[in-house]
Amino acid sequence: MRFETELTAEDGPNIDHLLRTVYPTEFEAHLVESLRTRRIMAAEHGLWDQGALVGYIAYSPVTIEGMETKRQILGVGPMAIHTDYQGTGLGRKLLEESLKEVDADALVLLGHTAFYEKVGFKPAATYGLTFSDDAEQNAAFMALECWQGALEGLKGRVEYDRRFYDE
Ligand SMILES: CC(C)(COP(=O)(O)OP(=O)(O)OC[C@H]1O[C@@H](n2cnc3c(N)ncnc32)[C@H](O)[C@@H]1OP(=O)(O)O)[C@@H](O)C(=O)NCCC(=O)NCCS
Repeated sequence: MRFETELTAEDGPNIDHLLRTVYPTEFEAHLVESLRTRRIMAAEHGLWDQGALVGYIAYSPVTIEGMETKRQILGVGPMAIHTDYQGTGLGRKLLEESLKEVDADALVLLGHTAFYEKVGFKPAATYGLTFSDDAEQNAAFMALECWQGALEGLKGRVEYDRRFYDE
């Protein structure tokens, strides 16, 4: 198993294949293709097993409505572990390796809270951050300070690239 921090344009088909295998709809595959084409990704990390991409995690910049900051805040996702490899600890391994490498002050994500809290994510509400007006979505919205105090003074609704909101 090989952890990789540099994914190139040539890895596009591998990423696309993995996302289409793991997610029930094409949304994530289309989203990632669109963000990659427009060079919006801040970082992408992969996990390879004998030439096959079995794990993927993406990071892209987010802003906080009405806030000016020099701090680098990234949205995590999509993240995927190939269906054949899920539940064997690889997701956690990929996330832990990835968090050591990513260059950010703070991270946010919408996802399985029980999974992400194992690596230190907290409810984003702890920091006064929201994703939308929807209470269910906000309950699944998590944040991680890469250094203590990184989110201090930053409150409000987090905004991703508009392609995250496409139907
Ligand atoms: C979610 C996902 C990335 C987790 O990867 P994984 O390799 O299956 O997870 P791991 O085996 O590393 O699990 C690590 C821990 O998280 C827990 N966990 C894994 N998936 C979980 C989930 N969906 N919800 C809650 N807890 C979860 C495991 O039980 C395990 O707990 P333990 O350390 O106490 O044993 C993977 O299952 C996946 O790609 N799922 C489909 C796509 C997806 O949902 N992506 C994430 C969107 S937020």
